[in-house]
Amino acid sequence: MKGNYNSIAPFYDFLSKAVFGTAIVNAQQFLIQTIPPKSIVLIVGGGTGWILEEICKVHAEGLQIVYVEPSEKMVAISKKRNAGGNKVSFINEAIQDAAPNNKFDVVITPFLFDNFLPPTAQWVFEKIDRLLVPEGSWLFADFQLVRKSAWWQFIMLKIMYLFFRIVCRIEANHLPDTDVLFDQHEYKLIRSQTFFKNFICSFTYRKSKAIYAT
Ligand SMILES: C[S@@+](CC[C@H](N)C(=O)[O-])C[C@H]1O[C@@H](n2cnc3c(N)ncnc32)[C@H](O)[C@@H]1O
Repeated sequence: MKGNYNSIAPFYDFLSKAVFGTAIVNAQQFLIQTIPPKSIVLIVGGGTGWILEEICKVHAEGLQIVYVEPSEKMVAISKKRNAGGNKVSFINEAIQDAAPNNKFDVVITPFLFDNFLPPTAQWVFEKIDRLLVPEGSWLFADFQLVRKSAWWQFIMLKIMYLFFRIVCRIEANHLPDTDVLFDQHEYKLIRSQTFFKNFICSFTYRKSKAIYAT
């Protein structure tokens, strides 16, 4: 797997807040409101794990969470988070290598897909899709560029990719088209919001019902 966030794990959240203020947190707070009680939840690329504390504010207990994160430094920080009465199992591996035992009611991919070139994005998408139950929710947050995006967003994204390619050795140099992946796999967009002048998007998708052969 390409990409390693170990070197910036201790100051990742500081950097993210310095650049985006509360937008990254707000985008994920928006998503986690819709997690049903007692769900089995998969978080992929959760970083330092502050999302576990945010989830705990919505559901103090009753969730079973599997947290897949390849950076051991990120996992070490995440393990110190207060997840309340929710049960969290950590898998310190890339999602490509992880083999969770469960199927999930909810999957959360916060700023994960921007790490991947299109072929990896498709592979990872299909793996996560197989782990989600029919009619399960996929909570997706990431950066977006649309036709009407402001010029500074194009430049900011270029600088971010330059930084993360040098510091974390990520493979990607542009955003993969995840809208197409959700369309191709017949996901339904249930809820959406944008943040940071449309540069950040949060989408709640519902997986379609399983189609059984008759
Ligand atoms: C841009 S950071 C976002 C962190 C966090 N979600 C946040 O919003 O603060 C991307 C995270 O995805 C993780 N990641 C990168 N490649 C991954 C992969 N193949 N499988 C799982 N996680 C991955 C990185 O280690 C990193 O913690």
